[in-house]
Amino acid sequence: MNYKILDMKFHGDARGHLISAQKDVNCPFDIKRIFYIFDTKPGVARGAHANRNSEFLLIAINGSCKVKIDDGTKTEIVSLDSPSKGLYLDKMLWKEMYNFSYNAMLLVLASTLYDETEYIRNYNDYVKEVSKK
Ligand code: TYD
Repeated sequence: MNYKILDMKFHGDARGHLISAQKDVNCPFDIKRIFYIFDTKPGVARGAHANRNSEFLLIAINGSCKVKIDDGTKTEIVSLDSPSKGLYLDKMLWKEMYNFSYNAMLLVLASTLYDETEYIRNYNDYVKEVSKK
């Protein structure tokens, strides 16, 4: 499955920590967009879609959440529970984020500008489309 868990290096000194994401250092794509998900209500799942063109790097910069990743044939679950843990997701993976802790802040870096037409929001449509590849 085309995802990777990345160890985002801490740069720290007596003042505290800093973590950077940079193309070809610890982010495998050109970053065109960022968004962040926060104040997620208890029991809520987000995502539940696939993107035909976008690659993403997800980092729980505060708190934690889980990510269910599905490639149409199998499912894996990754826990994001540290600001030093990055989850790279390739194009055309179905993903769902859930189990957000109180105060979770999920930062998402994306390889594309936002384009609703690249989203597949119906799981059956996704399975059909990914199985043709
Ligand atoms: P949505 O795709 O439902 O979020 P999730 O990733 O949790 O599935 O997006 C929520 C709203 O935000 C929707 O109206 C589209 C808008 N949006 C943007 O305008 N730009 C973006 O980069 C993203 C990710 C969403």
